[in-house]
Amino acid sequence: MMTCAIPTGRLGKQTLDLLFDQRVTTTLIEPGRQLQIEDEASNLTFLFVKPSDVITYVTSGLADIGIVGSDLIEETKADIYELLDLNIGKCRMIVAGLNENAYVENDHIVVSTKFINTAKSFFKTRNQTVEIKPLNGSVELAPMILLSDVIVDITETGTTLKENGLKILDTISDVSARLICNQASFYLNRKEMDTLKERLSL
Ligand code: PRP
Repeated sequence: MMTCAIPTGRLGKQTLDLLFDQRVTTTLIEPGRQLQIEDEASNLTFLFVKPSDVITYVTSGLADIGIVGSDLIEETKADIYELLDLNIGKCRMIVAGLNENAYVENDHIVVSTKFINTAKSFFKTRNQTVEIKPLNGSVELAPMILLSDVIVDITETGTTLKENGLKILDTISDVSARLICNQASFYLNRKEMDTLKERLSL
């Protein structure tokens, strides 16, 4: 039986729907507060973990496979195998500010973000000096309360940006969910990985 790390929240719900729709699971799994579920039909044990912890479970070998956004793969530069783009959890990594003047080239700008490495490397390619203010969430609040000039974050519907008076100033990358595995599990469970990959290829 392989172990699969599933992110909690929005992406987790879309992942469980996809596993059911593609007949990997025969029942639609509803995790609730149970954080580990064995599913005999798919021969998978599911672990329900914070999206930002999926990579840790996979790289440590506690999970053979996992589902994670390409934003977190890019941010952590983790040593994992990417098996498949699942085409769910689609969003964009963007730079946003209260107005166009918030983002003045050549000036020293303050950036609030959860994606510290992504932000640093984006502004480095633009020769832009930045000071990073790390936050764990509710990043869209930062420009309004003058914590930072701009934010680097993901946006899906654009609602959170709009409701906090923010405009997109740059797109850094397109983001989607990926099926990942650790390298040892890949060689040990090659056949199972191939079957799963085939089922989930849309
Ligand atoms: C994510 C992201 C944005 C929001 C964007 O936050 O960090 O805040 O979703 O979605 P939208 O464009 O559809 O409004 P999440 O809900 O994961 O919570 P967080 O603020 O705690 O990171």
